[in-house]
Amino acid sequence: MDIAVVGTGYVGLVVGACLAETGNRVVGGDIDEDKIRGLQAGKIPIYEPGLDRMIERNVAEKRLRFTTDIGAAVLESEVVFIAVGTPPDEDGSADLQHVLAVARVIGQHLTDGTVVITKSTVPVGTARLVRQEIERQTDRAFHVCSNPEFLKEGAAIDDFMRPDRVVCGIESTEVRPVLEELYEPFVRSGNPLIFMDIASAELTKYAANAMLATRISFMNQIAELCEATGADVTVVRKGVGSDPRIGQSFLFAGAGYGGSCFPKDVKALIRTADELGVDLSILKSVHQMNERQKGLLATKVKERFGEDLTGRQFAVWGLSFKPETDDVREAPALTLIEELLAAGASVVAHDPQAVSTVRDLHLGDRIGYGHDAYAACEGSDALIIVTEWLQYRRPDWDVVRGALRSPIVFDGRNLFDPDRMSRAGFSYYSIGRRSVE
Ligand SMILES: NC(=O)c1ccc[n+]([C@@H]2O[C@H](COP(=O)([O-])OP(=O)(O)OC[C@H]3O[C@@H](n4cnc5c(N)ncnc54)[C@H](O)[C@@H]3O)[C@@H](O)[C@H]2O)c1
Repeated sequence: MDIAVVGTGYVGLVVGACLAETGNRVVGGDIDEDKIRGLQAGKIPIYEPGLDRMIERNVAEKRLRFTTDIGAAVLESEVVFIAVGTPPDEDGSADLQHVLAVARVIGQHLTDGTVVITKSTVPVGTARLVRQEIERQTDRAFHVCSNPEFLKEGAAIDDFMRPDRVVCGIESTEVRPVLEELYEPFVRSGNPLIFMDIASAELTKYAANAMLATRISFMNQIAELCEATGADVTVVRKGVGSDPRIGQSFLFAGAGYGGSCFPKDVKALIRTADELGVDLSILKSVHQMNERQKGLLATKVKERFGEDLTGRQFAVWGLSFKPETDDVREAPALTLIEELLAAGASVVAHDPQAVSTVRDLHLGDRIGYGHDAYAACEGSDALIIVTEWLQYRRPDWDVVRGALRSPIVFDGRNLFDPDRMSRAGFSYYSIGRRSVE
């Protein structure tokens, strides 16, 4: 098939590359000229494991190319994916300006029967707005579908190639064969291609993310209770998650959820519900709990060192919102660093992939960077671990102790055993477990 994917961010690039990998001719379109110029020159703008090789291969084999001429890309495609960002507006609702701008261009260039598929996460009712926007531009017949994306950054290629499920919201069964053909290579092992009405598809994506965020905030609140009662949240998690009705995933207490999806999608769903007079009080608590949790590491640091951190230096391991990505949108590490800087401390950070993303941010030049994880500890009053990159999981504690000014570790991801940390000579503070001094 000839396919256009509009938006070459974390989702659009992966979707485009994977569709090309299965034999389609794909053109990725974006308004960001620098990004497209870079892609045309073989420069992949994000870190996602395996993506660079997949793009390189498909470009070389002429199944994948990139353009800023979105009109031309639409004109030559049977299927057009909208995969642009839907960042939160000031009131928490999803900002649809990019989606509707793309719909306008699609309307100006589509051919009869074009299938327009919304991949971006959008509130219920957006497909109708997309249809209206296109109809303002053209009298031609076309289809609008909602096909929310469930990939996880860091494992995005595998998630797209072997999805748990593919959700397709359609207006009429006429378009179903196109989606079946498109997704056939990805659901051969039997995972379902689920067809439903468009409103249900749009809501399914938000409900899924809201459920995962709820599990995290729930467990973070249980962690708080563990600290108050002397229980250990890591064993409570195992005990709770061993029930197959519950399962183990997304039950890890930590420094709060971040990223480009959970925070904005939870807020957008609350907003949608408010507009419709439905009180999603559970999700309001989930959001509030997460805001509190993102401040927890800074609170623990201040409990140990005092409110005024002037003259103190802290090593921070992990900037991305989770391992295996360079995405720092709403990352808990940024909240922590802002709070440490505001209290007068200085920060030396390390991250295997996200340093260049952070350097571009407002706080990027207000902190230092270690050339490796141990260098970040040099002369620091404590080490704070925020993201559980694999390389932080078995550090050489002798080197860490030798580099730090005092042997103190704050662990926002419960990576280590408190007794072993104590034996290794550290004061150790984690989440939902007793501290060792
Ligand atoms: N990142 C994820 O893990 C993930 C997972 C599932 C769903 N989603 C959803 O997918 C959507 C895209 O997310 P992302 O993380 O890829 O965003 P992103 O910010 O990484 O990429 C968006 C891209 O769209 C481009 N763009 C914006 N306006 C445009 C326009 N008018 N024409 C052409 N291109 C335009 C931007 O230049 C950018 O390259 C969002 O709705 C998000 O919620 C994201």
